[in-house]
Amino acid sequence: MEKSVKVALLGCGTVGSAVARLLSEQADILAARAGARLELVGILVNDLQKERHLPVDPALFTTDALELIKKADIVIELIGGIDPPHAYVRAALENGASVVTGNKALLATHGPELYELAAANDVDLYYEAAVAGAVPVVYGLRESLAGDRVQQVLGIMNGTTNFILDQMHTTGADFSQALARAQELGFAEADPSADIDGLDAGAKIAILASLAFHTRVRLDDVEITGIRDVTAEDIKAAEKAGYVIKLIAAARIRKDTQGQGGIEASVAPTLVPKENPLATVSDSFNAVMIEAESADRLMFYGRGAGGAPTASAVLSDLVAAAGKRVYGGQAPREIVYGSHPILAKGDFRSRYYIKLQVADRPGVLAEMASIFAQHNVSLSTVSQEGQPQSDKDNAAQVQKQPVEIIFITHMARRADIDAAVVELNKLAAGAPAKVLQVEDK
Ligand code: HSE
Repeated sequence: MEKSVKVALLGCGTVGSAVARLLSEQADILAARAGARLELVGILVNDLQKERHLPVDPALFTTDALELIKKADIVIELIGGIDPPHAYVRAALENGASVVTGNKALLATHGPELYELAAANDVDLYYEAAVAGAVPVVYGLRESLAGDRVQQVLGIMNGTTNFILDQMHTTGADFSQALARAQELGFAEADPSADIDGLDAGAKIAILASLAFHTRVRLDDVEITGIRDVTAEDIKAAEKAGYVIKLIAAARIRKDTQGQGGIEASVAPTLVPKENPLATVSDSFNAVMIEAESADRLMFYGRGAGGAPTASAVLSDLVAAAGKRVYGGQAPREIVYGSHPILAKGDFRSRYYIKLQVADRPGVLAEMASIFAQHNVSLSTVSQEGQPQSDKDNAAQVQKQPVEIIFITHMARRADIDAAVVELNKLAAGAPAKVLQVEDK
């Protein structure tokens, strides 16, 4: 008799519906690949009355999560959020089912506990869909790079914010106009805060950093700045200087001058040089760049959201999990041997872009240069925007017109930059200085 593996699907939103549809439409090829038929034993929904137009037996819909979990060999969790998925994933693992989840918030908060529970119960926990949708970056780090030493992982891991920033670059729109456009087109949620405040990307980089550096990195360890404060003027100024502003999620090992180091994990609007491949990632696409000692630079690009693309990642995990049930073996366990400390923001090192307006008077530039020098910050470039002066302007008039000065520094400690900015702000003739990280080519 043909073998079968019982699958429970928790959640039937955009991704859950796509998974249910593909499980039915691709049943034969999935069975050939997994070595067993993937038998859907139930779908957890909130509302049994809702019309769903899916090619599945309506009797499969249920609102009883725990009863459904008891019937399954593999549980797919696509509800999102932490509660109740946390309890459901625990129940599934304790019940001897493997779990496939796309839940980044759950893993970035409770991952270690769940990996341990999976190992203790001799079952597997897969989560390719939790990071960058269809893009196989979890597999890349967990399996393809298992023989290498990763130095940094960085990229664009949130499609909504990439769409918004891309709109700002291509149309000159300000942040609120671009957000409204994203909402109109269905990219951004009615409450877009998890995306635009960087929490979604923060959870993703916590998951990737843990895999890359074999050290537990949680959402709370990631320094997060969203894109609300990026203005149309910032975008224009960045373009003029040869950069594109992207919301970059990054995790890297940084060594200090004594060779001591730690993990820097952050999400922040960042100036990316136009020559860097991440600068060309437009619309709502995601891209993740990995730099490893032997492999050098790798780039993963694709759709980070949406029903079918995310379902592709879920089904790939499902085939792997089912194959392990049929043929034996285990998914890679959590491997934590890294003893890297997580660096505080003040210890981050980067190049920085600092923009501020000051009165156009003799010596002001020298004063600013001296502030940087006092704080150990070396400047790479300085540029000035202002009204050209006519011969008729008198000195008093000239000094009333502020000029905008943009500094790009060499590598500097964030604490030194922040201390310098406190002093620079005393000279500001307008809003306080704007500070953004700058990425390399
Ligand atoms: N909302 C996310 C994005 C997809 O815009 O990329 C799910 O993490």
